Amino acid sequence: MQKGNNILLTGGAGYIGSHTAVVLADAGYGVTLYDNFSNSSRSVIQNLQTITGQRFNLVEGDVRDTATLERALREHDIEAVIHFAGLKAVGESVEKPVEYFDNNVVGTVSLLKAMHCAGIRNLVFSSSATVYGQPHYLPIDESHPTSATNPYGRTKLHIEELLADLARSDSSQRILCLRYFNPVGAHESGLIGEDPNDIPNNLMPYIARVASGRLPHLNVFGDDYDTPDGTGVRDYIHVMDLADGHLAGLMHLQKSTGWQAINLGTGKGFSVLEMVRAFEQACGRPIPYQITDRRAGDIATCYAKADKAWQHLGWRAERTLEEMCTSAWRFTQRAVSSA
Ligand code: NAD
Ligand code: UFG
Repeated sequence: MQKGNNILLTGGAGYIGSHTAVVLADAGYGVTLYDNFSNSSRSVIQNLQTITGQRFNLVEGDVRDTATLERALREHDIEAVIHFAGLKAVGESVEKPVEYFDNNVVGTVSLLKAMHCAGIRNLVFSSSATVYGQPHYLPIDESHPTSATNPYGRTKLHIEELLADLARSDSSQRILCLRYFNPVGAHESGLIGEDPNDIPNNLMPYIARVASGRLPHLNVFGDDYDTPDGTGVRDYIHVMDLADGHLAGLMHLQKSTGWQAINLGTGKGFSVLEMVRAFEQACGRPIPYQITDRRAGDIATCYAKADKAWQHLGWRAERTLEEMCTSAWRFTQRAVSSA
């Protein structure tokens, strides 16, 4: 897609969508956000305009509402869609599989129908490293076998397969599945970031809550893994690097056809205790923690082989672990002081 093209971001008010909106607006794209605010706040829109000095179109709607979505695609003269909208909590998906399939899979079917009617064939989909299931080898490249270990992961896998089938059925489709590893951090302004409504499931927002005194201590889920310090190792990627990856992905779509899946990770793993120490450095306070039992379904180590993104998109992650922690801390402090 070229500069000046209009891009619709489903779930654009969410954590990754909002950071991507900044990068796309800065790069000269017209950005329309489509969100039902089930896991985000309307105040994000004002913050995006403050950060970029630009106007964003907003359509409040559910992706399962095909008619509203089709109208938004036509009215805003959309060239490509980035599909972030979805539910993402692994534990919740085990309790509410129907809700997850409805929101994620039915939502994607609805989007594809709306895009078909509006004549739009360019799509970037938010996929996840979760589609690799239990790692068979490391680092994980895109040829690694896929499988799912929970309903959330299964929705991502089903959507990827649906998109591959669609691309096989229609040679004009351009579809890119970006498989994110572990996005963390925030925009440098501290105006947007990740601030879940409930107690966080993920490590970095949990640590940030402990650092700001809103939770007493971190529970470290197991220290008996086969890793250097016994705690789980993940490929944490700065959300602004991830956002840059979407820009690179959109530019790549222009010259590609068919279906493709590409990892967005750094290629490097850090343990839970390394993350704790890095965050302590960033915030200048101790992060109390307790070692607890392993979390059901967790794996020891997961990190990406990130070469395909470099070869095909000309993108690679640039930001350091320190920048991930300092930006997350800046956002947390702002969120706490304005609450
Ligand atoms: P998020 O919850 O912050 O953002 C998702 C946005 O989608 C929210 O603004 C929410 O209100 C909206 N939304 C949800 N269901 C909707 C619906 N039916 N209609 C319209 N809007 C809807 O999550 P995020 O971290 O920004 O994740 C974005 C995407 O990336 C998701 O698809 C997620 O599965 C995927 N992903 C996230 C991670 C991660 O760790 N954050 C990792 C891998 C993949
Ligand atoms: N962890 C703790 N304590 C916590 C939270 C996490 O010790 O309170 C540990 C976990 O055991 C794991 C590491 O921190 O070793 C990272 O856990 P996260 O929950 O932050 O991330 P996951 O790798 O488990 O999963 C995330 C998303 C998934 C996505 C996956 C890969 O939640 O949806 O990254 O992209 F599929």
